Amino acid sequence: MQRQKIIVIDFGGQYNQLVARRVRECNVYCEIYSYKTDIDKIKQMEPMGIILTGGPSSCYEENAATCSPELFKLGIPVLGLCYGAQLMQHVLGGEVRRATDREYGRTGIKVDNSSALFAEVPENTTCWMSHFDYISKTAPGFKVIATSDNCPAAAVENASENLYGIQFHPEVLHTPEGTKMLYNFVRNICGCTGDWRMDSFVDENIKKLRDHIGSGRVLCALSGGVDSSVAAVLLSKAVGKQLTCVFVDHGLLRKNEADEVEAIFGAAGPYDLNFIRVNASDRFYIKLAGIDDPEMKRKIIGEEFIRVFEEEAKKIGSVDYLVQGTIYPDVVESGLGGESAVIKSHHNVGGLPDYVDFKEIIEPLRDLFKDEVRKVGLELGIPEKLVYRQPFPGPGLGVRIIGDISAEKVRMVQDADAIFREEIEKTSSEYKKSNGSVPDWMPDQYFAALTNMRSVGVMGDERTFDYAIALRAVKTIDFMTAESARIPYEVLETVMSRIINEVRGVNRCMVDITSKPPGTIELL
Ligand code: XMP
Repeated sequence: MQRQKIIVIDFGGQYNQLVARRVRECNVYCEIYSYKTDIDKIKQMEPMGIILTGGPSSCYEENAATCSPELFKLGIPVLGLCYGAQLMQHVLGGEVRRATDREYGRTGIKVDNSSALFAEVPENTTCWMSHFDYISKTAPGFKVIATSDNCPAAAVENASENLYGIQFHPEVLHTPEGTKMLYNFVRNICGCTGDWRMDSFVDENIKKLRDHIGSGRVLCALSGGVDSSVAAVLLSKAVGKQLTCVFVDHGLLRKNEADEVEAIFGAAGPYDLNFIRVNASDRFYIKLAGIDDPEMKRKIIGEEFIRVFEEEAKKIGSVDYLVQGTIYPDVVESGLGGESAVIKSHHNVGGLPDYVDFKEIIEPLRDLFKDEVRKVGLELGIPEKLVYRQPFPGPGLGVRIIGDISAEKVRMVQDADAIFREEIEKTSSEYKKSNGSVPDWMPDQYFAALTNMRSVGVMGDERTFDYAIALRAVKTIDFMTAESARIPYEVLETVMSRIINEVRGVNRCMVDITSKPPGTIELL
């Protein structure tokens, strides 16, 4: 049976993946394609609906990103968002102009909730605006279905043709009714029934993988991160002992992490899989000794990882399939899907060896967003602690130690980081118990890093000359931009006092409040 699908056409706006995620939250499958995608290809995919995203261009300029007018004549419902709405009007004979001021931020709007797009949306609501251009005249056949003080056409429709345009961004959380609007579009206007569910994804994919792999042998580089763990368990449910997982402990993991991964996936854990743990910290420390250039570190760690992995793969013998935990944002960001600019390409330590003997790569999660991977993880019975793990860079603590790396410095950063995480988790779970939800300041990623700075302190009666720890905690949606999380001062004080008392070699604690940009989340 073919799955119902919405196509998201990407004009290069910053929220484009968010649009796709919100559609998926409505249990409707969607894929992102560049605006340059050929109209015939779009037709062949037989989408139930099309969404045109925002983007940085002005549709009336020469060489602006555009689409074929035929797109609006396919008989398929189309929803334009921000730039997408303006473009739809421009292409169909309306008028778009530059306003004197940019309309930006939370904005009150009045909607006509007799429109199918705004069914069950309160007449007066808030939305997130971010535009310079505005629709100054609607195209023939269109009527205005929402207005704001500065925007005479905050939303427009031609209901008989199933064409809709919204000037604001329903996909961001600052538009509280936004998901309902997208739901109205994909479920009611396009008629999608909601056939995209993670429980059926698990069942369907176990069967598909089993049929595809047959009696072949499968190898998986397991990092203990969410993606590779979910991929490994899915594969193990499909082909059992035909799968071997190799977990390389490069000595740059968080405190106790290697043992925790082994406890879940090793012989004592609930999954009956072939699990090989390679304790390789010594060889990594030797290779990294005296290196303080961040890119060199990343390169050395990445290469050494591959060498270790290859050695293990050779011991196993020829394998037919190699599993990778690639997820949909990796596909989109590598330019295979949408149009978004590649801001930073991370090489993942789970990266592929060039010449391991295998005939095919299997990427069972390549259609999924992170939140969907997590749901699949829960469906598969993977512990919540692992499923909701915060992101951890492939090069591990290697990018959280400024300057050269040694076992001693790894110990300091591991211990400080464990204290920081413990205190944040304790405070937030106490808060949750009395308030029902985590506090507003709860960071999306938080960790300790070791600065290369040593300074003078006093402990008891003794002078110290020790290292300073930096505490980093950020709020972020997509990890492309971030702001510092406002952790209560008392929590920071407890963390500071515990770190200095409990972690040998550290006598000072600093909080890094830099946003991204201009900083990055990791210090290196
Ligand atoms: P930055 O430091 O670029 O980090 O702001 C953004 C997000 O990516 C993670 N990160 C990495 N992940 N390999 C990875 O797999 C890497 O080399 C790497 N560097 C950063 C970082 O933890 C944050 O979540």
